Amino acid sequence: MNHVYPPGPPNDTFGMRHLAAMRDDLMRFCSRLQRRYGDVAWFRLGPLDCFHLTHPDHVHEVLVEKSKSFRKPTRLKQVFGRFEGQGLVVSDGDLWLRQRRLVQPAFQPAQMAGFVEPITELTREMLREWGDTATIDFAAEMRRLTLRIVARTLFSTSVDDAVEPLGEAVDVIQHWSMREMNRVMPWPTWLPLFGQPRVRAALKFVDSLVRRIIRERRVSLTRGADLLSQLLNAVDADGNGRGMSDRQLRDEMVTLLLAGHETSAAALTWSGWLLATHADDQERIANEVRSVLGARISEFADLPRLAPVERAFKESLRLYPPVYFLSREVADSVQIAGFHLRPKSQVFLNPYLTQRDPRWFPEPEQFDPQRFTPECEHDRPACAWFPFGAGPRACVGRSLAMLEGTLVLTTLLQQFRLQPATGQGEPTPEWQLSLHPQGGLRLNVQRR
Ligand code: HEM
Repeated sequence: MNHVYPPGPPNDTFGMRHLAAMRDDLMRFCSRLQRRYGDVAWFRLGPLDCFHLTHPDHVHEVLVEKSKSFRKPTRLKQVFGRFEGQGLVVSDGDLWLRQRRLVQPAFQPAQMAGFVEPITELTREMLREWGDTATIDFAAEMRRLTLRIVARTLFSTSVDDAVEPLGEAVDVIQHWSMREMNRVMPWPTWLPLFGQPRVRAALKFVDSLVRRIIRERRVSLTRGADLLSQLLNAVDADGNGRGMSDRQLRDEMVTLLLAGHETSAAALTWSGWLLATHADDQERIANEVRSVLGARISEFADLPRLAPVERAFKESLRLYPPVYFLSREVADSVQIAGFHLRPKSQVFLNPYLTQRDPRWFPEPEQFDPQRFTPECEHDRPACAWFPFGAGPRACVGRSLAMLEGTLVLTTLLQQFRLQPATGQGEPTPEWQLSLHPQGGLRLNVQRR
């Protein structure tokens, strides 16, 4: 067996220097690793071996070919488990497999068709508020919109009245999670968020809202065209033939709410910036939208002809992947990139760096939606672009996220022209739970 380690930075006794550098500026640390040591770099954090992998083939090995040898890292489970219980993002093994089988069918294309109208309608509502011309915080607008969309697709209209407080609670939870992920010592799990009244209140709010809706739905037996109805009806035909308990249902609903909101908001915000700063591309895409739709509202059947919008959205996910960093823990010894990885080793994958590598994307800093024509996509290694992850644990909400991205941008470009507001320079990426422009994004919007 090969016990040779890949190259990497010199290690100190506890890896404290690396940990400090990662917490200080994660992407600078990772870029340096890639520049100095190449596609495979190794370092130690305390007793743990850590591997930073940026080659698409190695990403494929970890996420697809040998995914069974990995699990979600302990820290991630501790932090997100606080809110999401045993939901899909944090569970592993048999429980994860059963839940994935139950949740996945809710995201099939047939189900997505029912979401076209609410997504478009909520976007048009937002655009009406913009008037004819305005300077807006586009990032804040996208956060508000995607929360409304995820709430509507999960619960139909049951949370319309509670969307504002729900947004505040979700913000508090996300901030706390990010801080915890960065701490050297996590908040002990046996402390029930003691001394954290805002976080406790936020969790209580989300928890009671979701539980109330589940209870009401079970009693009323009405089924809406939403994900909750799909999950209430789901039975594990390949397993014990049963559906989910209320507890599991609550965990999955909270998971979908948290996983589906910030990520989509970030993706749309960066798309807005890229379109605003590439006026020619923006006009070309707006003209294509006009030739497909004129002034009418999009329908599910229009989607194949809205491919130019989808390509721009994919290109934005390449340049600014909301989930810019993925981690795994080795469960069983495994060979990756020709090196032997022991159990508990940590593996870090980096969509941001892989997707800006000139070997797969020539002139990587350039915004060029044509990279996503079917021919160009076919010519690249499978995991050169992986903003939704890959393999069995790839994003379960990908179809909804792509639908949402395409429809929101289509509706927006149909009605408005985007430009950077005076004084809005190139935004600095902020490496939060998802990748956001620091301090928001100010755009001028003008009705066409
Ligand atoms: C542009 C928007 C989105 C992006 C970039 C994104 C990205 C990702 C990525 C990279 C993963 C895999 C993480 C890993 O392997 O460690 C993931 C998993 C997941 N995503 Fe998304 N996501 C998006 C939208 C959504 C939406 C709309 C939902 C649901 C409403 C959702 C629900 C989930 C869930 C439940 C998982 C865990 C799946 C599992 O482990 O089985 N995501 N997402």
